[in-house]
Amino acid sequence: MNIAFNKVAVIGAGAMGRGIAQIAAQAGSLVFLYDTQAEASLKAKEAVYQVWDSLVVKGRLEAGTVANYKTNLKTASSLQDLKDCELIVEAIVERLDIKKSLFVELENLVPETTVLVTNTSSLSVTAIAAALKRPAQFAGYHFFNPVPLMKVVEVIAGLKTNPEVCIRLTEFAKQMGHTAVQAHDTPGFIVNHAGRGYGTEALRIVSEGVADFATIDRILRDQVGFKLGPFELFDLTALDVSHPVMESIYNQYYQEPRYRPSVITAQRLAGGVVGKKVGEGFYKYTDGKAVVAPEPAVPQVKEFPPVWVSPRATRRLELLQLLKDLGATLETGASPSPHALTLVAPLGFDVTTVAVVERLDPARTIGIDMLFDDAATKRRVLATNPATRSDMRDAAHADAYWPPTLPPDLTCAMQHMLCLQKMGKLSAWCETAAASSPNALWPTS
Ligand code: NAI
Repeated sequence: MNIAFNKVAVIGAGAMGRGIAQIAAQAGSLVFLYDTQAEASLKAKEAVYQVWDSLVVKGRLEAGTVANYKTNLKTASSLQDLKDCELIVEAIVERLDIKKSLFVELENLVPETTVLVTNTSSLSVTAIAAALKRPAQFAGYHFFNPVPLMKVVEVIAGLKTNPEVCIRLTEFAKQMGHTAVQAHDTPGFIVNHAGRGYGTEALRIVSEGVADFATIDRILRDQVGFKLGPFELFDLTALDVSHPVMESIYNQYYQEPRYRPSVITAQRLAGGVVGKKVGEGFYKYTDGKAVVAPEPAVPQVKEFPPVWVSPRATRRLELLQLLKDLGATLETGASPSPHALTLVAPLGFDVTTVAVVERLDPARTIGIDMLFDDAATKRRVLATNPATRSDMRDAAHADAYWPPTLPPDLTCAMQHMLCLQKMGKLSAWCETAAASSPNALWPTS
């Protein structure tokens, strides 16, 4: 196989640089890893060696293959050592001024044919290229953490990038076992732009007191199916990377309010509590594993009220079947009896609004999130409103509803239902809005 780049340099031997060096060496390129801290590149090389050795022990790689990989991966002690490389990948600190001056220095060392790329998460590729004499030879090559496992890389052309460079980078990505995606040079490219809806919004949920970070992680992982919750992801990426990314994207979009960063991460960054790599982020880490506080116990309840389900509930038939399977007594009347637990399942509305608009007794009204179907979710999320009675909340949450004859997966899913408390301020807003225009707020079909 003709490899797109025979000699590759990776500058910055941190979390990203070592991963990029690993997959490039595996593809068959001769790779030189360089870091301003000499011990960082040696440590990174040793760490990659250990990964390969452990894959041999697990029977996933041949010892001979790993021996070849190891000869492909070298460290360099100066930028001078990189001057013959055909591709130089930069994965250093996320600072425009520092990246610019590194590339200016490199451009003076290497021939005109060398391709220079940045692994920046959030800076403008065009802005970095503006400092260069040969911007046509420069592009963004944005990998994800951990690089060997995250199989996508964004290839970003700056305003003056030669399209041939992107074609070559795409080809090389394939040779490294990755899929290249062409992204425009806009703040955050594709993934980190979409990530505003994940990380930044999750921080907003915490700051509004809707749920704590561990609960949000559990919901996103177990109900929605993400591999990592947003706070687990923050800990993996580390806040010294992701907080500046949040600030950078926010400012590049001219202070777009949707992307506003949070004081939560600003404070944690200032305090050095940046994530897994320092042993503490949103979680504390022991032997590289997050220490997660146990979930609060599921309440025990002796008597269960009958359940009435709103006719407007999302996936109503699925919800009724779920309740039947769980042994609940279902009410079929047009409105709930005075003792019924009242279940609503709105999409995009909070429980307070629904209780007001549907004229339900808020003290007995509980919401259940039915956005995802049963096949896709391991949990269901319950939501109270500020007036929900504690006996109703406990009845909805309790495991005695779920007889032991249930299939274990269903029992488990329902036992782990979570309660989210909405704040009083939301209720005040909802009541005002609902009173002025109930029909505008709530769909009638
Ligand atoms: P890191 O902090 O783990 O490693 C950065 C390394 O660069 C350090 O070893 C540091 O000594 C070295 N370094 C700093 N300035 C240097 C210079 N002028 N010359 C040579 N080496 C220098 O950082 P990480 O997480 O690997 O991030 C690197 C880049 O990759 C950043 O631009 C970041 O935005 C981007 N990125 C990070 C991701 C992540 O999840 N951590 C994901 C995707 C991109």
